[in-house]
Amino acid sequence: MTAQSANAAQPVVRLRAVQTSDLDAWFPMMADPEAIQMAAFASPNADDRAAFDARYRRILADATTPVRTVLLQQADGSERVAGSILIWHDEGHAEISYWIDRALWGRGIATAAVAAFLQEIDERPVYGRAAADNLGSLRVLERSGFARLRTEQGFAPARNAVIDEVVFVYPASAAEATHLKQP
Ligand SMILES: CC(C)(COP(=O)(O)OP(=O)(O)OC[C@H]1O[C@@H](n2cnc3c(N)ncnc32)[C@H](O)[C@@H]1OP(=O)(O)O)[C@@H](O)C(=O)NCCC(=O)NCCS
Repeated sequence: MTAQSANAAQPVVRLRAVQTSDLDAWFPMMADPEAIQMAAFASPNADDRAAFDARYRRILADATTPVRTVLLQQADGSERVAGSILIWHDEGHAEISYWIDRALWGRGIATAAVAAFLQEIDERPVYGRAAADNLGSLRVLERSGFARLRTEQGFAPARNAVIDEVVFVYPASAAEATHLKQP
């Protein structure tokens, strides 16, 4: 699926099924210390390639976890792997998660990928979570039509600390119905 832009400055982003070789592109972007600090809830052993491969083998084998590779069209028309996006399930709740190569941040790629993924995946509601200081991810969720539900505290392995995490839901109309809404 392609998120075509009316504005030429917006990125041309496409999602496709994951190929084994994508893990070679994902690993360095998900082992990037700056990105890990930002995400905060990232896996603690992110620089362990064997653990990374084992985790993604499990995820890719799980039919209830849709995962896509985010591709960015480059100036010459070729595509490069820009990141990943998936929906996983936590106690029955669908939760979206995404990661973009730091070299490509701030170009609207995550926003385009979330829009394309939500068009492709029918499951609703979809929850989103971001560390309260992860301004990029908070903005991606807000721009994508998620409604802010509440802030809770959780242990963030990358910070080795308990930090605030903001919980969102999509579509925004689900915020009124969900039992997770803050009183
Ligand atoms: C969060 C992340 C996915 C954002 O990806 P991205 O492709 O740079 O996001 P976009 O370009 O679509 O940005 C969307 C909005 O967020 C803003 N934004 C992005 N990064 C930002 C940052 N570090 N600080 C403040 N705002 C930021 C953009 O300016 C844009 O806002 P605008 O529409 O008002 O201009 C990316 O930084 C990342 O992969 N981080 C590490 C992993 C992570 O945190 N994943 C999410 C876990 S919850």
